[in-house]
Amino acid sequence: MDPNKRPENMERITTPELAEAFIEEQLAAIKEQVGDKKVLLALSGGVDSSVVAALLIRAIGDRLTCVHVNHGLLRKGEPEQVIKVFREELGANLIYVDAVDRFLDKLAGVDDPETKRKIIGAEFIDVFAEEASKLDGISFLGQGTIYPDILESDGVKAHHNVGGLPEDLQFELVEPVKLLYKDEVRVVGKALGLPDSMVYRQPFPGPGLGVRCVGAITRDRLEAVREADAIVREEIGKMNPAPWQYFVSIPDVKSTGIKDGKRYMGWAAVIRAINTVDAVTAQSVEIPWDMLCKIRDRIIAEVPGINRVLWDISDKPIATIEWE
Ligand code: XMP
Repeated sequence: MDPNKRPENMERITTPELAEAFIEEQLAAIKEQVGDKKVLLALSGGVDSSVVAALLIRAIGDRLTCVHVNHGLLRKGEPEQVIKVFREELGANLIYVDAVDRFLDKLAGVDDPETKRKIIGAEFIDVFAEEASKLDGISFLGQGTIYPDILESDGVKAHHNVGGLPEDLQFELVEPVKLLYKDEVRVVGKALGLPDSMVYRQPFPGPGLGVRCVGAITRDRLEAVREADAIVREEIGKMNPAPWQYFVSIPDVKSTGIKDGKRYMGWAAVIRAINTVDAVTAQSVEIPWDMLCKIRDRIIAEVPGINRVLWDISDKPIATIEWE
């Protein structure tokens, strides 16, 4: 039997009971695979790696070491949430790496999207490898691979995300959710007691806000993206159902504002909300006018530097979901 092929008779995990059964099965499988050895996991805070972390903590406790790399491109509150949930609530052995300056220094002045992605991918691996080299006795690497990652080996993640781990980090993999679809991972995450804000998180690209701070990233514009994104997530998150993905980008274009009778240069924030099945095509979602106005007012009032708010109504194709 091919371990990377989902058996045809495998039941779709749709209920808490089925999730519990899956969890029990995986705890036994992890214990069997890992024995008394140690596992290392890059924990981004995304649903896949979070579910794997929660499973591994239950299975092997402090023989799991999680590494959370803050590259400065995470959304508002994300690093804090990872620390709160995993270190404080689940008692994980969590190494938090503040690599913000390292990433932003490397990215300074770089405006080509793929070069930005390559720098972020390569730097991530360097930081992770450095942390791994400080640890003794690691035998396994945990990974939040899910079934679509296996099916679409040329799909979104593989297409965008650069890298792979260096030779000396080629540990045997522990991939407990590799046969699950995303909706099943969420049901399992919920059964493991992870917070809804983690389990039902909208998809977020690996290079994070880096691709939404369009062009060469500057710290002040990146901060504006992060603050505006938090407002948009809060407001559009009230839609029922919420769109598949909704966010803000800030292009590297100046926008004239006027305050106290004086003109000044600021930026324009671009709101985007889309629905899609597979991210290959996407449809712009209609946002109610009242909601748009509230978002506009909040962004203008709360985010320094932004003096113009736009709504991107493009479909994919022709526009990609992200601006770059
Ligand atoms: P595009 O912009 O290509 O995006 O229409 C399709 C989906 O992929 C996400 N995306 C990325 N995900 N690394 C990722 O892991 C990336 O570099 C990346 N770029 C885009 C995007 O958010 C959308 O969901």
